[in-house]
Order: sequence, then C-alpha cells, then structure tokens
Amino acid sequence: MNQYIFDNNSDAREFQRLQLVEAANDPTTIRLLEETGIQPGWHCLELGTGAGSILRWLGSQVGPTGLAVGVDKKTTYLHKDDSPHIQIYQGSFLDIPLDQSFDLLHSRYVLIHNQEDGAILRKLCSLLKPGGWALFEEPDFTSATLPEPEQKTPQGRVNRAICQMFINVGLDPAYALRLPHKLEKAGFHIVKAQALMHLCPGNAPMAKVMAESALVLEQEYTTTGLCSPEDIQAYVRLSRDSTHWALYHSTTSVIARKPMM
Ligand SMILES: C[S@@+](CC[C@H](N)C(=O)[O-])C[C@H]1O[C@@H](n2cnc3c(N)ncnc32)[C@H](O)[C@@H]1O
Repeated sequence: MNQYIFDNNSDAREFQRLQLVEAANDPTTIRLLEETGIQPGWHCLELGTGAGSILRWLGSQVGPTGLAVGVDKKTTYLHKDDSPHIQIYQGSFLDIPLDQSFDLLHSRYVLIHNQEDGAILRKLCSLLKPGGWALFEEPDFTSATLPEPEQKTPQGRVNRAICQMFINVGLDPAYALRLPHKLEKAGFHIVKAQALMHLCPGNAPMAKVMAESALVLEQEYTTTGLCSPEDIQAYVRLSRDSTHWALYHSTTSVIARKPMM
C-alpha cells in the first residue's frame, strides 16, 4: 500500500482543503448520484469519505430504512451523529472486512492515489448487488498542461510538476483517462461517462483547492525539478486573483452498473 500524498498535512489544514474539494465538486456529484435513482432503503458505500459531505447526503437520501457506509484511511474529519443508518470504518479499504452488499457505490478522487486500484475496483464490484449502481469520479492533471505545452509560465511549470510528482510515486496523473477501461476490466458495465474541465477564475472553489494543495505539497512539486518556489508563489497568487482564468485539471465521472448475471 502506498502513502497518501496529503498524509503529512496538519489535521486543520487538511480538513479545510477537503471542504474546498467538496464545495468545488458536490453539485456535480449530487446531480450524477440522483441519476442512479437513489431511494429510501438503499444500501450505499462510499470509499474515501474525506470530510463527509457525500456520505451525509447519501444517508439523508436512504433514510433510516437504508444504510450509508463510509470507509476512509482517516475518519478524523467525520462527525458521527446518532444516525444508526450511517456507519463509518477507518482503515485502508482492502483491509476492511465488509459483509454487506450494496445498491450504490461512490468514490471521488480516491483511485488515483492507489497503486492497488485494480484490486480495489474488483473488491468494490464484488460488494455491489447484481444490477447495482456505481459513480466513480477521478481527475486528469495532464489536461491542465494542454493550453501551454512549452511550460513557459509559472502556472505551466507547476502543472507539469504536479503530473511529475504523481509519476515519481508510481501513480498516474492522467488516471481519469484510463477510468472507463479499468472499470470494464473490473466487471462493471459503463452507463455514462462525462468529463468536466475545471476552467475557473481565481478564488473559485477549485482554484482555492489547487492553491492550498500547492502550498502543502510545495516540496514535492519543487523536487521534481520542474518548478521553483517562486513559480509556486506566482501560481498561488494567480489562483487567488478573480480576474485570472486558468484550467486546473479535468474530472471524469462514470456511472456504471454491475451486470445482472
Ligand atoms: C482527495 S481525498 C477525497 C475525499 C472525498 N472523496 C472528496 O472528494 O471530497 C481522498 C480520500 O481518500 C482516502 N483514501 C485514499 N485511498 C484510500 C484507501 N485505499 N482506503 C481508504 N481510504 C482511502 C484518503 O484518506 C482521503 O480522505
């Protein structure tokens, strides 16, 4: 099992960063989850619950007759209330024994961080009921390098460094581009795939996520040799400038089902 790149972030900063991730993505995620026809009584599993907004939303949709199970390596940011239909497991997914089967799975920005993604996908598929639904959402950081292939600006160099950082730890910065094929290999049937380019002005939630990530991962970015601390300062400044538009990355979302047989 590989280390998660934000493992060394302080709890307070990581909680704030995860909440920015939610602000940037939840409206799209919820629209797509609604397309599955989620209803009271369903049993749902979320892998990589982060700060928990989608787990709470799943719990609110399935109600007390349903079940929303969240799994994360670190559950510090989840405030467990008294709802017995929301269950939380802390640990690495492949190590957690789960004996329920589920109507719906969700996972966002998790597989890209795992070298064992194939085994994770196979386990997720085995936990899904025949005909059950899944929504997977993963990023492609190489998209951000497309407008500026020669990397002549600080943002261009930082975007390139982000990609290299993933490669250096044996992960794939273009994970999203491989996602549909990986899902099919694990046994899922693809219902729909869409990609969203995060082209935003500074201070938009996604620009804030990427600025905060750059501050936390400054050393990891600069040790790629592709950007300098000054490039990171300029990147963060532009990410906070609401007159400056930039492409931060893209997210591919795939709705899939487990075949009936
Ligand atoms: C980038 S965060 C995304 C959080 C949340 N899904 C969201 O989009 O708001 C990735 C989360 O997945 C968790 N994670 C990554 N790999 C995991 C694994 N193998 N098992 C359990 N949790 C994992 C991390 O601890 C982290 O909370």
